[in-house]
Order: sequence, then structure tokens, then C-alpha cells
Amino acid sequence: MALPQEFLQELKARCNIEDVISQYVQLKRAGSNLVGCCPFHSERTPSFTVFRNNENFYCFGCGAGGDVITFTMKMENVDYMTAIEHLAARAGLTVPEDPSSIKARVNKERYFEMNKLAARFFYDALIAPENQQALNYISQRGLSLQTIKRFGIGYADTSWDSLTGYLMSKGFEKEEIRNGFLAGVSQKTGRLFDYFRGRIMFPIFDLSGNVIAFGGRIIGDGTPKYLNSSDTPVFKKSRNLYALNHAKNNTDSSLILCEGYMDVVALQQAGFVNAVATLGTALTSEQTRIIARYANTVYLCYDSDEAGQRASKRAIDMLGEVGVKVKVVTVEGAKDPDEYIKKYGKTSFEKLLRGSDGHIEYTIKNISAKYNLSVPEQKLAFLDECCNMLAGVASEIEREIFVQRISVDTGISAEIIRNETKKRQQKSRRQAERNAVRDDINKSIGYGDRVNADSAKNLSTVKKEENLLGLFLMRPEFIENPTLSNLVTEDIFGCEFTKKVWREIVRNAQALKEGETTFGDAFTPDEMGRITQMTVRRRELANNSESVAIELAESLKKEADRKKDDDGSEESFFKRIEELKKTKK
Ligand code: CTP
Ligand code: MN
Repeated sequence: MALPQEFLQELKARCNIEDVISQYVQLKRAGSNLVGCCPFHSERTPSFTVFRNNENFYCFGCGAGGDVITFTMKMENVDYMTAIEHLAARAGLTVPEDPSSIKARVNKERYFEMNKLAARFFYDALIAPENQQALNYISQRGLSLQTIKRFGIGYADTSWDSLTGYLMSKGFEKEEIRNGFLAGVSQKTGRLFDYFRGRIMFPIFDLSGNVIAFGGRIIGDGTPKYLNSSDTPVFKKSRNLYALNHAKNNTDSSLILCEGYMDVVALQQAGFVNAVATLGTALTSEQTRIIARYANTVYLCYDSDEAGQRASKRAIDMLGEVGVKVKVVTVEGAKDPDEYIKKYGKTSFEKLLRGSDGHIEYTIKNISAKYNLSVPEQKLAFLDECCNMLAGVASEIEREIFVQRISVDTGISAEIIRNETKKRQQKSRRQAERNAVRDDINKSIGYGDRVNADSAKNLSTVKKEENLLGLFLMRPEFIENPTLSNLVTEDIFGCEFTKKVWREIVRNAQALKEGETTFGDAFTPDEMGRITQMTVRRRELANNSESVAIELAESLKKEADRKKDDDGSEESFFKRIEELKKTKK
């Protein structure tokens, strides 16, 4: 990637990090920096910090960090170039075209184009006379032609290569068709075969209306019932929601979250245009953050079976974490919303929505269904569960309302229930603190380090490496110090990650000296977080002089040399023996 440094500097100058972040996070002044509640993990006390001197951000809670571009990538869930475009549009700048970035974007466009052609191909097949049985199935399930068109529903015929043949005739390469998850390759013959055969096809759209993936339902019974696109260059199932492209235009700031494609289509056809669904997986935290952007209330409308109810509990917690209010809709008398609408009509569903329980109400009902309150032991168990649940409710008013309710239901005084709840709150707070400490310890011993997988090998060395890199990031002029430039080479770093950081520091020395931490798209947002951490940790220390850097570099060099000598060979073995003999003399 080679966007000119001048452009990046201009972009960053115009997209002041404080202004950009303020659009998403409420920032407060703290000394010379700004702090707020981190948008990347849930927290009540602010540990997300914006450093004004070098235009970086860093969260002391979750380790997210980087510059305004990293922030945009993480916040908008987009890749590097898209973040640049987003910021450029904001600043009124035009992104200079560069051959490699054009290629990257053309590729995406090609996948969109290929998927669009495939969706049309499927739609045409659905209305073709020879596939009457497919259209019959869809009509039988109550979908009108208008709905079919609105959702672009289609049919993948039973042939093994009709789609592949069509896409190749349109100039798409085998590789593209495969990578787009529209075909597989036969191990025997090496030929492509269509993935989706004999299935009703639901295209999945992104928010700009591009077709990014497909879900295919078998006609009638059979397994697997659904076949879904895996992640492709343009699709991540954990970051998209079915029909959000339609639902996002709903103005009352609520969404109905269902489990299935058919539920969404049936609800939207009945006029509930704010219905969305996950894409064949459990709700992810990325999806909850997207939801939080479009809705402040979610009507959770999962299947009425046990699996659906279990999934509801999980979704309630996850949506609560991003501050979305949850109402739980129970589709009694039907297995899912689709069946409910068909059986009872849309007015009944409307009533269901209006009468839906707040999530606390819902949970209490669930708990009380398990116990007979006239049996003392069971009453105790009921109270025990209720107090645990209430302890997790953040709002005191809300807690009090239900304390009163439970008191009436059980005949136990409200004060006792209130106190018991408080005790449990304190206990879980202590537990959370202990967990946080444990996480920190785990992190500090390099356990489960995703950014630097080598760090577990030799933790104290890694710390030294990070310290040294932090110094260079803070004081890029050290690169020119003759002692240091002699000592520090890529070889003294023992991990792939730290080696790469060093290479990028050298490559970007000029920009760093001008006060920029611009590494282009060399690092992922997670890696940028770690790099920012190196600087932040270093900055907290008092002595950041050249002599500290030299000391660190010398020690790393010594370790690296020792490793080099001891490469496990016979030669190095004898060399060591010789040295030992020498020292003995
Ligand atoms: N799903 C899947 N693979 C399966 C079964 C289900 O990916 N083998 C996903 C699909 O996204 C589906 C959702 O889980 O839409 C819900 O499953 P289910 O309730 O079984 O499907 P419905 O959408 O209700 O479909 P239908 O009414 O046609 O049975
Ligand atoms: Mn269903």
C-alpha cells in the first residue's frame, strides 16, 4: 500500500482525532488528555484515553489503540482503504489513486458484481416455467411475488454447473467463483461444481445494497436445511444482519431480532419492516454493536423451543452490555414468528409486540415457572435466583420495582430482598475485580497473546523488545544515534511481530519524526493497539533517555548472539565447551 505520506498527513491534520472520536464517544478533559468510556468494550468508568500530543488513542481496559485511522477501522468495522475514504470524504479530500489500492477495490467490486449476477440468475430460475415446483413452494409458504422481488429471493436449480457456467461466460475466473463461495472444486476432476443446488436462495445484502452472500434453503425436508456462504472477501457473517438494509430505514429506533430468514421475510411482508436476523449463527458482539447504532430497543423474537429460549437469555445479556433495551416477545402457540403470523395474523403479532415483557419481567417469569412458591424450599430457591438476577440490573429504580414485585409474590419483606440483592452485587463486583486482575496477570505472562504469538516463548525478552520499540516510537530521533544504529538491527528482535515493528519504524522514520504514527495498512487494528501500548507504557516511565535505549539494545543483542551461537549444532556445542575450558583456566 503506498498512499503518499503527504496525503496521510494532510488527512490526519484535517481529521482531528478528538473531533472524530467525539462523534462516537463522550470525551472529558483529564489533564492534557481526554478520557471517555471505551466504545470497544463495555465499561462504566472511563479508561479510554485520547492523547492530544501525538493524536493517538489507547484504552487501558482492553488494549485497543492507534491513530484516527485505526479508530475508524474499528468503529465502522471496515478495512483500511474504506476507513481512509470515510475520513477523506469527511475532510473533503480526494484519495489519490495508487495501482495496488485500485486493484484491491476492483476485486471487491468484482465480487459484488458476481454476486449480483448470481442473484439475478437465481431469481430468473425461480420464475422460469420449468422450475414451477420451486415457486409453488415459496407461494405455499405465503410469500407474494412482491416480497420475492423485494428480497431478491431465487432458486438454485439442481444442475451441478449451471451457475458456474454462467459466471464463467460472463468472464469470472474459477478462483473468484470459488473464493466467493459460489462453487467448490471436485477433488477428483479438479472441476468446479455449484455449491447451491435445488435450494431456495436468500441473497444477503450489505447496507449499501451490494449482494455479499447467500443462504439457501432446501425445498421441503432434507439436510442440511440451510446452506450458507462462508466468509468471503466481501462477507463476514459475524458482522452482518439479514435484512438490515431494509430495517435500518425504520424510524422508531427499534428492531425485531429473529432467528430465521423466513421469519424476517414473513414479518416484513406483514408490515414489520424492522425485522432482522442473524445469519445462521448465535448473536455476536459485533452484531450487537451494529444493532446499538440503529436501535435503542430490540424486540427479541426467537423461536419458542428450548434452544430459542436459551439463545434469548444470552442475547438479553449481550444487548444489555451495549445499552440496548430488550423486550422479549414470546410467540406462544407457534414455533416461530413466521408460523405465528400465518396462524394468528398481523394484528395479533402487533399485540404481542405491545404486550411484550421487559427482559427482567421475562426472566422472573422464567424463574418462577420452575418453582412452586407454596413449598418453602422452592420459595427459597426462587428468591435466591431472583436476587442473583437483580444484582446484575444496573438501574436502582428498576431493581426497586422488581424487589417490590417479588416481595408481593413471596410475602417476604422488601427490605430483606433488597439487602440480599445488595450483598450479591458487592460479591459480584469483588469477583469482577479479581477476574480483571487475573486477566492482567495472564496477559502479562503472554498467555493467549493474539497479537504477538511468540511472546510466550520468552517473556522478559519480549518486554525488553517492546520497551525499546516504545522508546523509538517516542523518540524517533534515536534512530540516528550512532551507538544505537550500530546496535539495533532486525536480528536482535526475537519475535516476528517485534521485528516487523522495527522494520516499519525504520521505514517511516521521517514521518515519525514529524510527529506522525503512520504505518499505512501494515498493521491490523489489534496490532496497532499493541504498538500504541508500547508508547503509552514507556511514556509513563521517568527515564526515557538514550542511555536506557542503549542498555536495552545491548542486552537484547547479547541474548540474540547467545542464541545464534547456540544453534543446537555439534559445532556450537564444541565451541561452548572450548569457552568453558577457557574460563576454567
Ligand atoms: N440455519 C442454518 N443451518 C441450518 C438450520 C438453520 O444456517 N441447518 C439458520 C438459518 O439462518 C435459519 C435460522 O438458522 O434461517 C433459523 O433456523 P430455522 O428456525 O430452522 O429456520 P427458518 O428460517 O425458520 O426456516 P423454515 O421456516 O423454512 O424452517
Ligand atoms: Mn421457520
